Amino acid sequence: MAKRRLRNLRALVQAVFGGARAQEAERQAEARRLRFRDGQAIPHHIAFIMDGNGRWATSRHLPRSMGHRAGVEALRRVVRLCNDYHVPMLTVYAFSTENWGRPPEEVSALMGLLWETIRNDVDRLNREGVRLRHVGRLEGLDQDIQEAIHWMEDLTRANDKLELNVCFNYGGRAEIVDAVRQIIAAKLPAGEVTEDTISSYLYTRELPDPDLIIRTGGEMRLSNYLIWQAAYAEYYSTATLWPDFSEADFAAALDAYASRKRRFGKTDAQLAEEAAARSNDPRADSSGDVGDSSNGSRPQPATKGSL
Ligand code: FPP
Repeated sequence: MAKRRLRNLRALVQAVFGGARAQEAERQAEARRLRFRDGQAIPHHIAFIMDGNGRWATSRHLPRSMGHRAGVEALRRVVRLCNDYHVPMLTVYAFSTENWGRPPEEVSALMGLLWETIRNDVDRLNREGVRLRHVGRLEGLDQDIQEAIHWMEDLTRANDKLELNVCFNYGGRAEIVDAVRQIIAAKLPAGEVTEDTISSYLYTRELPDPDLIIRTGGEMRLSNYLIWQAAYAEYYSTATLWPDFSEADFAAALDAYASRKRRFGKTDAQLAEEAAARSNDPRADSSGDVGDSSNGSRPQPATKGSL
């Protein structure tokens, strides 16, 4: 009897304080979102290297494939965060051309996960206004996966709430090789090949370059990810393993981004002059959309002589 009473009391205390803790966490999250909405520079395009799934699983004595499965949950979370924080474009590195070298059971688990995620999530994402794109080589993927990719791209083409690009069978060097092959096949005269020409032959030809690249799992390298497009991206690395990536991690990355000064190879004095010119430009509205090169909007990168 006494034991039961104690159990009930414990459950009551947990319900009251657990609920209060959840409420407090939500209050803090909302405060963070409001602070970002309130004038803090937000990257237009965030690209993730979702690293650490294997370590997450191994530390729990689970097969690595369970880490990738938990990684899909983290991706769902990050899609929601992009909506909450008004980040309009998200690109993720889900399978690299080098990942074919992993044990066959892991490769097949990753293929299965892509298939399953398309089957389970695309209708909902479509209803939520998310446009989905595949970035990478279709060649080499099974026919049914290729068809599923075409289907998700066609279905979501008109959506514009969030653009989600999934790099699958993607490698930055392979992308450049494919672009060069197409340029040669198109017989473009060498003198006419510019940086813009190359960009226009990449898989990402329709996309702006990423503003912020976030890598989880503590490593500090690009691993053949968007190597052309990353030329002027800001980098952020966190020790958090991808399946554990939380709203607090996301907000910390956005905070770091907002504190960076993006100069695109120019000097502070030039940036100040440009800002002054913009403030006299009648086309400039209060959102700074004519091109705030200190941060946040999408200034065009300088193409010459910059460090
Ligand atoms: C790197 O972690 C992660 C990958 C190679 C795969 C990432 C895939 C997902 C998050 C899920 C798949 C997403 C879709 C859309 C199907 P790792 O395995 O190298 O981790 P480790 O460094 O701890 O070993």
